[in-house]
Parts: sequence; structure tokens; C-alpha cells
Amino acid sequence: MGEQLGTLEELPQDYRDDMTAAGVAPLWPMMRNVLPHGAPNPVTRPGHWSYAAVRPLLLRAGELTPVEKAERRVLVLSDPGRGAGAMQATASIYLGLQLLLPGETAPAHVHTPSAVRIVVEGTGGYTVVDGEKLPMEEGDLVLTPGGEWHDHGHEGTEPVVWLDALDLPLFVYLEGSYATEGPLQAQRNRPDASQVEYLSSGLAPSRKLGAGPRRYPMMRYPWGRTEAALNEMAAYTDGDCAELDYVNPETGADVLPTMGFTAMRIGAGQRHAPPLRSSSAAFHVVKGQGKTTINGETIEWGPKDTFTAPVFAEITHEAGEDAYLVRVHDRPLQEKLGYYEERAR
Ligand SMILES: [Fe+2]
Repeated sequence: MGEQLGTLEELPQDYRDDMTAAGVAPLWPMMRNVLPHGAPNPVTRPGHWSYAAVRPLLLRAGELTPVEKAERRVLVLSDPGRGAGAMQATASIYLGLQLLLPGETAPAHVHTPSAVRIVVEGTGGYTVVDGEKLPMEEGDLVLTPGGEWHDHGHEGTEPVVWLDALDLPLFVYLEGSYATEGPLQAQRNRPDASQVEYLSSGLAPSRKLGAGPRRYPMMRYPWGRTEAALNEMAAYTDGDCAELDYVNPETGADVLPTMGFTAMRIGAGQRHAPPLRSSSAAFHVVKGQGKTTINGETIEWGPKDTFTAPVFAEITHEAGEDAYLVRVHDRPLQEKLGYYEERAR
């Protein structure tokens, strides 16, 4: 334990050359890189994207690039640890800010990764998933699970912007990422399931004999209800942050296979210091302002900002005014792989 391992430089050059020619390499000089002691050594660094800074760039993209030339008009939020252009915000989470202008549509497609949209601004936008038209109001969380057809449209008069969160990096790593395109979907003539079958928490449509729970029964989580639930809960949390997980209303399971979502309310003047988690996280500020220290680095955030934290980060949030955040994390993936962990600070 703790013994210094041999280096490549210690080996004779002819042996190194012969290994290269044979297509092999010694493990021991590289072992600590892939198996560090005690905890992972993340490449991901804390990131912060001020909406005030990104919004004008996004609107300019609306002038420079018609949606037909972009399919999805998105500015990707690149992890500072991987540098500009990185198609990921943490090891497993991709984030992008997407702009749709009035009258535009984003064509229908289906792909292997799963996505969630968190609506940042604007009204009149909608997503159609498997024929269900999902209105997009500020703060709403809209699911487009892998394997489900989806397209977007905009019936309003002002730009609509949402934050996309995908498990894309995982699918790219697995060489399993691809999409199929198709025509815009016919929309069912009825409100979405959050307004019909799952209007009240604790109530689900009566089950027919032999019908099992559905994997994705509800694709839209309206923000108004989430905020109301957080406010009720906050009255009884003894000064700590109120948190609610987004779950499948039929089973209580995570809403997507690899990504989890938690709504948080941190009251004005409150401080929230969660345990160290093995999951990485992205925080999207729906409302409010405050600051968060991540591994000693302080981020001052305001409404509609997004920031990220690597695995096992020491995170302390402090709200300057009542703040509502959505935390995107990869705990469901880690639980499936059997290694999700929390450690005391
Ligand atoms: Fe998509």
C-alpha cells in the first residue's frame, strides 16, 4: 500500500519499442491513473454559466443560423476541466441551452440517449413525445426518454429557451449514440398526462387486470405544482433545504434510467451543506440568487444560471433570497452499477 510503482522511463528503450510494436503496454506505470486510492480523481471541474452572458449569444445564433440549418439550435455548456467544445458538462451529463423562435419547429427524431428539458424562459413552446403535446412553461421539466419520438414547436410570440440535459456522454462512450429522423408527429387531441391521469399526487388511473406499471406514464412535471409542494414542505423542514425528487407517479422510481432530478428550495439566509456524493451534479436556478462553494471555489449565481459540481465535491449552498433550483444528477446510473455512495463531510 502506498508503494511507488515503477515508471515507463525505468524500462529499457528496446523493451519499450518492442512492446509498442506488439501493441501492448505495461499497466503498472498507469495503474494509479485508472485506480487512484480512496476516491476517484475527476477530470470535471466546477462550471458556471451566467444566463445574462449566454442569452445574447443564443439570440445571436437565432439571427445567424436558421433552425433548418441547425435542427437543434443549441449552445453546449462545456466542462471547464475538458475545455471549450467538450460535449459534456460532467463525465455523464451533457447540458445545452436551446433556442426556438416563434413559428419554428425542430424536426422529429428518436435517439438512444435520454433527455430532459428544463424551461428557462418564454411561453408558447411545446414538445411532442410519442404524440402527446407537452406545453413548456417556465421551470417545467419535460422528459424525452431514449427511444421515444419527439419534436418541438413554438406557438408564442417571444423566444423560448430551455436547458437540455442528456446522458449523451455515456452513450458516446459506449459507442451507442445515434438518431433516426422522421416526419412531425400527429398530436393527440387532449391535454398531457400531468393534467389528466396524474393530476393529484397519490392518485393514478385505475389499473386493469394484468396491466403492469408504465415505464414513462408522465412526461411533463409542471413547475407551478413543484414550487407549491416545495413551499409547503419548507414550512416543516426546521430551517434546512426542502428537496423533492421527480419520480415515476406509478412506481416511485427515477424518471429516467440514468439521470435523476431533484427540486430544491433554499430559503433566504439558509445554508445547505449536503454530504459528499459519488454522483456528479448540475444545478439550474429556476428563481432566486445566492452563492455556492464547490471544493473551495465560490460561484455567485442568479436566476436562470446553471452550475456544475464533480463527483465527491464538497458543496455548500447559501441563498441570498428564496431560491429554487433543480439538481440534475447521475445517481440512478450509479445505483444500477452498484456504487452510489455518500460520505460525511
Ligand atoms: Fe432529441
